[in-house]
Amino acid sequence: FFAKPWIFVRGVPSMEFLPPEGPPEIAFAGRSNVGKSSLINALLGQKGLARTSNTPGRTQELNFFVPDGFAGSAADLPPIALVDMPGYGYAQAPKEQVDAWTRLVFDYLRGRARLKRVFVLVDSRHGLKPNDLDVLGLLDKAAVSYQIVLTKTDKIKPPAIPKLMEATAKAIAKRPAAHPEILSTSSEKGRGLDELRAAIAGFAER
Ligand code: GTP
Ligand code: MG
Repeated sequence: FFAKPWIFVRGVPSMEFLPPEGPPEIAFAGRSNVGKSSLINALLGQKGLARTSNTPGRTQELNFFVPDGFAGSAADLPPIALVDMPGYGYAQAPKEQVDAWTRLVFDYLRGRARLKRVFVLVDSRHGLKPNDLDVLGLLDKAAVSYQIVLTKTDKIKPPAIPKLMEATAKAIAKRPAAHPEILSTSSEKGRGLDELRAAIAGFAER
């Protein structure tokens, strides 16, 4: 299904607009501007599918994407859905707005039965920040499976990448939830995309 075109299904501004539980969902979470939307576009090979920007706070809803060609009825659900999320942390938007996005992200992450994996994206120039740890804490508590994905590795020196992966693995080693290997990616250079696709494909149904 990564070879197929994907389509945008809907943008969800608050919990009451969530679609009914359907295909397994894979969510992309992370601080504002970490590269969530860019990574989805790179994975799907469709520039411009998820909107990206230099300005933190670009993605303002939970945006659902599925492979094209499924009717979406109970009898013909897509095998998987990807969910692009608003970022948490600093964004160029009013505080009430940012607080509302953060609430939406947290509510979705803790309350979605079909959510199979959360990729927590971390900018390789910055590493894990306190609000990332808040999100990991929430996922631990809700027993939702997560995996850390370093982004923008084209922005750091190559020898720094394994060091950062090691330090990040060490920082989360004692967390209660299972945490598969840390992935490192660059949407810009296409690095790490196959590993990420393989992780996603493992959750697809049919
Ligand atoms: P919000 O929706 O605002 O939370 O941001 P986001 O996490 O979706 O980030 P987005 O994909 O919009 O990317 C933010 C900026 O980082 C854009 O200017 C991208 O071009 C840039 N960017 C994303 N991925 C990469 C990467 O792998 N390498 C480099 N060099 N820049 C990247
Ligand atoms: Mg975005």
